[in-house]
Amino acid sequence: MAEWLKDAVFYEIYPQSFYDTNGDGIGDFEGIISKLDYIKDLGCNAIWMNPCFDSPFKDAGYDVRDYRKAAERYGSNEDLYRLFDEAHKRGMHVILDLVAGHTSEEHEWFKRSCLDEKNEYSDRYIWTDFWLSSAPGHLWIGGECERNGTYMLNFFKCQPALNYGFHEPKAAWQQGMDDPGPTATREAMTDVMRFWLSHGADGFRVDMADSLVKDDDEKKSSTCETWRRMFSVIRKEFPEAAFVSEWGNPGLAIGSAGFDMDFLLDHAGRGYKTLMRDEEGGKDRSYFKKDAGGDIRRFLTDYLKCLEETEGKGYISLISCNHDTPRAKATLTDEELKLAYAFIFTMPGVPFLYYGDEIGMRYIAGLKTKEGGYTRTGTRTPMQWSEGKNKGFSDADVDMLYLPVDASEGAPSVEKQEKDADSLLNTLKAVLRLRHEHKELRAEGGFEVICDGADSPFVYGREGLILAVNPSSKNLAADTGRVLKEKIFSIGSASAEGGRIVMGAGSFAVYRQA
Ligand code: NOJ
Repeated sequence: MAEWLKDAVFYEIYPQSFYDTNGDGIGDFEGIISKLDYIKDLGCNAIWMNPCFDSPFKDAGYDVRDYRKAAERYGSNEDLYRLFDEAHKRGMHVILDLVAGHTSEEHEWFKRSCLDEKNEYSDRYIWTDFWLSSAPGHLWIGGECERNGTYMLNFFKCQPALNYGFHEPKAAWQQGMDDPGPTATREAMTDVMRFWLSHGADGFRVDMADSLVKDDDEKKSSTCETWRRMFSVIRKEFPEAAFVSEWGNPGLAIGSAGFDMDFLLDHAGRGYKTLMRDEEGGKDRSYFKKDAGGDIRRFLTDYLKCLEETEGKGYISLISCNHDTPRAKATLTDEELKLAYAFIFTMPGVPFLYYGDEIGMRYIAGLKTKEGGYTRTGTRTPMQWSEGKNKGFSDADVDMLYLPVDASEGAPSVEKQEKDADSLLNTLKAVLRLRHEHKELRAEGGFEVICDGADSPFVYGREGLILAVNPSSKNLAADTGRVLKEKIFSIGSASAEGGRIVMGAGSFAVYRQA
């Protein structure tokens, strides 16, 4: 596994909305390059960029038309190589988004697979051999081209599914993993990885990584085998490359498929959701929402199982948010977010910060859908850099902006928060500094639950450090059974005597154990 992951903290950039340097109203590679020092100074030493490849942008770039070509609206391939280079000069790493399960319907591979006469790409996608489709649980499109069949979708209508085979083929048109079509798809996708890795990319976030082999079993055994085969080739060539999956099941993604990291996602019924966005049944019971009656044990049950399944094999990735998820600021205040971030960024594994979360950017409700964003659009608005025109995002006229900038009263900006020692931005910076300065807090440092938060602060150990958090509005005390020595970090009030810790309302603290 890549050594650099041990101390990695990622910053996710939605390139459309980050920083526009050529005045066309949309972000670009040059903009990212010019903000590398800002990202580094914040405490993030790695970047995940959402898809930045040639695309008709019907799903914000998750509909790739050419895997090897940068989208012109962001710049050229050379600009992207320079971005890798500039990041490396600063000791930073950049991973790209690999959309492995589907392409755009405008991809050359797909156009060729639509032809009636057999060719190299006929089996690159999943096609039936008749005009009506009957495989349940999938979406099919017919009537679009001359080929005698219908093709399977992986997500939107514009995203035909690549053919990695069926777990157990049941019809003549269904292929197994070892058939020539799926074998060629794996080789083609490995070649896409090879292309970017050899030009300086440091790895990939893999989109819908669990979606490859169709009608797979519960353990996703054929999809896992597909990844193992691709990794066995590419990892030999690029041993320092890192791979993080959009899977939400670290036991399978890391333990079986061989990813280095897997995201905990905002899925109903999963522990991660209970931290900041738990609105099941119409009542917010999020743990970090003050006095909402949340219970950290709902997170821990799920998390500890994931940790056990992945120990020594890879890292769980906790996220502040992502481009598909409502920003936590939708329901939490900056004071609540400080505690949530202090927790997320002192946990084991490799954490990810979504651009703008460092200043508590809002979720903008009610925006017209943009590039297939639908409700996700409100999480993708332009970064708020300053108090100037368009909050410093772009010089373009307002009506040219990719999405409207949040110009509402009190909208945060980097400029404003940099000047305020107690801002969310400066608090997060201090937390990240603490993480980098203490080996115990990095990816591999141990984790144990000391007090599980039932009528107490939540207290956890990371090797020789004891950490406690109390999001409620009451003082909470706990006997930790340890001798707490010096306090090395705190938000709000916290005191300790012997093994007893008293956490004031809305507080977080880190102690060194004697
Ligand atoms: C997951 C991505 O995060 C999302 O934004 C996209 O729409 C779908 N996959 C389809 O690629």
